[in-house]
Amino acid sequence: MDWTESTRRTFLKQFGAAGAMALAAAGAEAMPRPAAQMHETPGELAADRRQAATRAQRMQWWHQAKFGMFIHWGLYSVIGQHEWAMEVEGVPIPQYEILAKHFKPKPNAARDWARLAKAAGQRYMVMTTKHHEGFCNFDTKLTDYNAVQQGPGRDLVREYVEAARAEGLRVGFYYSLMDWHHPDGARCKTDEAARQRFVAYTHGLIRELMTNYGKIDILWYDVDWPLTPEQWESEKMNEMVFQLQPGIIVNNRNGLPGDFSTPEQHIKPSEAGRAWETCMTLNDSWGFNRYDNAWKTPEVIVDNLATVAKGGGNYLLNIGPEPDGSVPPASVEILETVGQWLDTNGQAFYGTDRCAADFNINANYTRRGNTLYIHQHFWPGHTPAADWLSFYQPEAVIALGGLKPRVLSAKVLKTGQSLKFTQDEFRLRLTGLPIDPPDSPATVIEVQCDGEPTVNHEAMRPLWPRYKVGISI
Ligand code: GLC
Repeated sequence: MDWTESTRRTFLKQFGAAGAMALAAAGAEAMPRPAAQMHETPGELAADRRQAATRAQRMQWWHQAKFGMFIHWGLYSVIGQHEWAMEVEGVPIPQYEILAKHFKPKPNAARDWARLAKAAGQRYMVMTTKHHEGFCNFDTKLTDYNAVQQGPGRDLVREYVEAARAEGLRVGFYYSLMDWHHPDGARCKTDEAARQRFVAYTHGLIRELMTNYGKIDILWYDVDWPLTPEQWESEKMNEMVFQLQPGIIVNNRNGLPGDFSTPEQHIKPSEAGRAWETCMTLNDSWGFNRYDNAWKTPEVIVDNLATVAKGGGNYLLNIGPEPDGSVPPASVEILETVGQWLDTNGQAFYGTDRCAADFNINANYTRRGNTLYIHQHFWPGHTPAADWLSFYQPEAVIALGGLKPRVLSAKVLKTGQSLKFTQDEFRLRLTGLPIDPPDSPATVIEVQCDGEPTVNHEAMRPLWPRYKVGISI
């Protein structure tokens, strides 16, 4: 079904009465906590300590991988108004359930996602198995509100797993603890029998996901409203997950610290030693949103990749496929451009280490061991002569204040051009660069140093030799 505004109105009119009754039966629901307050990690817990012993080994591939594809796909994609449409528009459950009959994706849509992820330079994928709406994209014995028994008539999670593996990508499952559809999904907060039923249901679905699809690399929990970690029995949940999938990594959104933190829609490195992953949308919506055209440019994505890597994190970038599974063309275009850039610049990103470098409006930085990568997104385009008497020269110079330690060599990654340079106590000057930027959205310059590179131009401020004011030269 193509969910245009007029079909939506007709639909709401037609099913308004049934919907109103269902809403009355469900009672008023409290608002979930805002995302910013939701994901703070509490202190060390017993289960986390047990998992800490194997963490470095389990997460090795993930730290190397750096870049993943998030996929939000479900009944909300049919509406095409963001994945929160059910709650935001107050769609009654009996009406919303009808979407499940009309969700009829084309076969193996996930193959295109996996190919796109590969082309984009993404090394892992995380797909919504069940979002807040409660619909299971997978086969389950615990509810008939699932893809096999409803419109799709097949297990969409299985197709996704097979598609990701076919492209050599790691496989992650997103799972929302919050459930707007299950009868106990809200009353579990105040009714102990309902809590027990709902927790058994939740653990049961996770058990199926961890049992029926072979090796799974990531379990990505989301929104733990309305229960506390104790009420969710989150320690038991994680222990079951690790028992079934010993090599898996889990995030922190079931209220426990898990293996990594999950800043959402912003880049915020955790303290050193704590893994983190920024998840972000390509426009402003996770689920398909027909008229959300606030697309980020490839320039922004490439710069975000560098900022994330500079802080030692990972970047999980979302697509919201259309109801038939097609990826919005704007997303395809952005991701392919980013992927082409990574083809020649990937070494400045994959497997890099945290980098101590000041902010620079014209460039970003990443680091691997003793190598600094300068990601110059605003190319100088001209340069003053050494005596500053003539400003425009037939070459460009990139100068960097406060770089330590000694530079051994420098080259442009895209063209391989090796660069002449001068370096004194205060700055590095890379010379002989072309007037036009050799690469876009950013040109990466690889600078080999004789120790760990740091860029701290601010520290040089008091050290600058200063002269009297008013002398003419
Ligand atoms: C928030 C939103 C949810 C989205 C998630 C992705 O928790 O509620 O819709 O799936 O962020 O991180």
